[in-house]
Amino acid sequence: MNALNERISEIGVVPVIKLNHPERDAAGLAKALCAGGVPVAEVTFRAPGADRAIRLMKETCPDMLVGAGTVTNIEQIDKVIEAGGQFIVSPGFDPELVQYAQGKNIPIFPGCTTASEYHQALKYDLEVLKFFPAEQSGGLAKIKALSAPFPMFKVMPTGGISLKNLKEYLSCPVIAACGGSYMVTADLIDNNKWDEITELCKKSREIVEEARA
Ligand code: 3PG
Repeated sequence: MNALNERISEIGVVPVIKLNHPERDAAGLAKALCAGGVPVAEVTFRAPGADRAIRLMKETCPDMLVGAGTVTNIEQIDKVIEAGGQFIVSPGFDPELVQYAQGKNIPIFPGCTTASEYHQALKYDLEVLKFFPAEQSGGLAKIKALSAPFPMFKVMPTGGISLKNLKEYLSCPVIAACGGSYMVTADLIDNNKWDEITELCKKSREIVEEARA
């Protein structure tokens, strides 16, 4: 795997974040994630201003890996690059987005959950696919089934992942890392519960270590 994928895989979990108030919350959140041993964030465009949040998180924790999620158009890719974002995640597979991101030299994790989408992904230089929404699409059983004809891909499942099923997912060698919002819920962010976020990150990292021991 390339260096970015290796790093994400080593961390093992990717917080999927919706930040309604970037100026108020981005710095505190970045510090809380890093303190918990999870120096990575997928900041989604489900809230406008994701690019501002990315910039602020990178300014606060320059060594942190910060990318964008829920990217659905090329204008957002431009904004992410401008803000210093390091990767793009899209919920589905859109060849135009994949080509555009690759043309701009920013890694992209497009969402794929069917054999047809994996087929599409074969046409591009992709090592890791987002598998979204994971639990609702068949979960680990489907990921394993798809890995038989498509062993070249690792996946980053998101959707329905929590501390309860994290170990099961991470124990499967097809999984590069798991994404989730359980450690960065709206309640935790809006109420600035940074210590709780750090604790959830630490617990997640312990599970990553256990799963890979
Ligand atoms: C995503 O966008 O990756 C998912 O919505 C995260 O899913 P979760 O909220 O169930 O963790």
